[in-house]
Amino acid sequence: MSNVANLEVDGKKYSLPVVSGTENEKAVDISALRASSGYITLDEGYGNTGACLSKITFIDGETGILRYRGIPIEELAEKSTFIETAYLIIYGKLPTHEELRRFSDLLTANQNLHEDMKYHFEGFPSSSHPMAILSAMINAASCFYPELMQGDRSNFDLHVARLISQVRTIAAFSYRKTVGRPIIYPKNAYKYTANFLHMLFSDPYDDYEIKPEVVRALDLIFLLHADHEQNCSTSTVRMVASSQANLYASCASGVCALWGPLHGGANQAVVEMLKDIHQSGDDGSKFITDAKDKTSGRKLMGFGHRVYKNYDPRAKIIKKACDEVLVSLKIDDPLLEIAKKLEDAALKDSYFVERKLYPNVDFYSGIIMRALGVPVEMFTVIFAIGRMPGWIANYKEIAEETKSRICRPRQIYTGPALNHYVPIGRRE
Ligand code: ACO
Repeated sequence: MSNVANLEVDGKKYSLPVVSGTENEKAVDISALRASSGYITLDEGYGNTGACLSKITFIDGETGILRYRGIPIEELAEKSTFIETAYLIIYGKLPTHEELRRFSDLLTANQNLHEDMKYHFEGFPSSSHPMAILSAMINAASCFYPELMQGDRSNFDLHVARLISQVRTIAAFSYRKTVGRPIIYPKNAYKYTANFLHMLFSDPYDDYEIKPEVVRALDLIFLLHADHEQNCSTSTVRMVASSQANLYASCASGVCALWGPLHGGANQAVVEMLKDIHQSGDDGSKFITDAKDKTSGRKLMGFGHRVYKNYDPRAKIIKKACDEVLVSLKIDDPLLEIAKKLEDAALKDSYFVERKLYPNVDFYSGIIMRALGVPVEMFTVIFAIGRMPGWIANYKEIAEETKSRICRPRQIYTGPALNHYVPIGRRE
């Protein structure tokens, strides 16, 4: 296999180094191309651009493989927990008993927000989307740690624990704010996911009953979302981190990027789509016809992926979990039947087959969350809590890379050529 690529342009030849990854993925390193030739590469939407070298997550979209730090997602889903997986993603190895205990203790010790943060929640209208509150409050949290503003990274592990723990507290408080119910503080006795359910659903004198199957299902959703290499939100975090912005500001920007319906917002959009289909009495076939028609403005939400051209491995795990949770909670959700019919129809339809459009992680996750009693506006927030370890690990990779440069893509300018200022009275 060659370790250089040859490019000929304007009659001149250039040798470009070829870079290989652990799994033999190949890239042509064009970082010196402009300096030598005057050319840049153009790749709108970055579909074919590697923006970094990373040791965190491996995806093979053609065969449907996802591994965190080399470990297959299927093994982690079966054997690990969200917090253990978070440690693996951030610190690069599975923790020992002692390391996991210390990490868990640090999370518990840092789960309460600074009391003054509560006043910020009061300023939001109750109609706010919890994702808006989440991003604002994560950014605001950095104001309580002035050392961050000086670029001091000596307490990095403490900030990691604060962020993982407090994103869940902020998320629960945001929800309570939007439904006009009193804030519920975390309890030290509960583990991470149980504590989140407690903060979401308990009342001041009436504790929510924590069911193990509900905890396990939500923990699995967090774990399956924990990282996914250079997706839109993670690339955003890396972009912001590259300017040496602090950890909280960088992760808050990830929340904003995640919010859109083409990314994390898809889990909410899927359930809304399934509800519309249910209410309209359609068996799904009209919706499929619309989704194939580019003028309809509709897409089959929860289908398709930039990287997976095969079944998203997370969707397989979630589909199975979805069946189990609904049986265990004795819930008969008509939306699950509609989702399965849509999936069957799409996987047989030449439009979806030719374009290699398969269900992604969001297709069934919303149905599980509905069954657990999680309100639809919180779906993307749950995704954000799950993705926090991935954002932190990517931030850490940038922060520890001594040669890292600010991320700054170029462009091909297509606006007007040189033009001159015309005084207002002489304009047509
Ligand atoms: N429904 C109908 N058609 C689709 C869908 C869909 N869900 N997804 C892609 N297509 C079509 C495109 O219109 C395009 O058709 P064309 O070749 O005739 O122009 C073709 O399939 C290729 O799709 P792209 O637009 O190139 O896919 P891209 O990689 O840019 O986008 C994305 C990926 C955003 C996920 C897209 O598939 C989509 O919008 N899906 C629905 C939203 C969704 O589920 N998002 C969640 C993604 S997973 C995540 O973020 C966790």
